[in-house]
Amino acid sequence: MNSAEAVLENIKSRRVIRNLTDQPVEREKLEKILEAGRWAPAGGNQRFVRFVASQDPETLRLLRIVSPGMLQYPQAMILLCHDAAMQSSFASKADDCVHAIDIGTAMQTMMLAAHALGLGSGPVTSFSQEAARVILNLPQNLHPKVIICLGYKGVGSQQPMRARKKVTWQSLTDWERF
Ligand SMILES: Cc1cc2nc3c(=O)[nH]c(=O)nc-3n(C[C@H](O)[C@H](O)[C@H](O)COP(=O)(O)O)c2cc1C
Repeated sequence: MNSAEAVLENIKSRRVIRNLTDQPVEREKLEKILEAGRWAPAGGNQRFVRFVASQDPETLRLLRIVSPGMLQYPQAMILLCHDAAMQSSFASKADDCVHAIDIGTAMQTMMLAAHALGLGSGPVTSFSQEAARVILNLPQNLHPKVIICLGYKGVGSQQPMRARKKVTWQSLTDWERF
């Protein structure tokens, strides 16, 4: 497999993993994932996104309690926050969606890095932002947006999300014009 094929295969084979084992995540891998996030594209190269990483079992336990969408028991997590102080000094109203896109590019870049490192990952947006703020002692300018759960994939089936119809790139694409 050449490197282009390897990258494409990494993209295609990544799945959200919700059945994680209790095997700890190596700090070195977590740092590689954070570094990958740093290289995600960002609007205006302004970096409205901040990361908070944790491997602390008590922190993970508390976050899980306030996160209905967290079906897995992660061994590590990275919270992606929007830094509103930075954005207000840069963006006009027309740029309101930039931070959301920045969160998305960082999220997917990190999940692909995790997958390449042999880790399972899963994003969670269904959580109490206010409770996460208290648990993680976030300053007021940081708005928590998505938690990336991390760990090693367990054997057997995982809790599925709701069934969906088959999606192909063709079903998502129109050529030239609608
Ligand atoms: C913005 C966003 C929010 C999501 N929030 C959750 C969540 O709260 N809990 C969860 O288990 N999965 C969440 N997911 C994962 C999706 O359910 C998952 O990506 C989708 O079912 C497709 O599965 P796949 O990524 O394995 O192909 C989220 C994904 C995205 C992009």
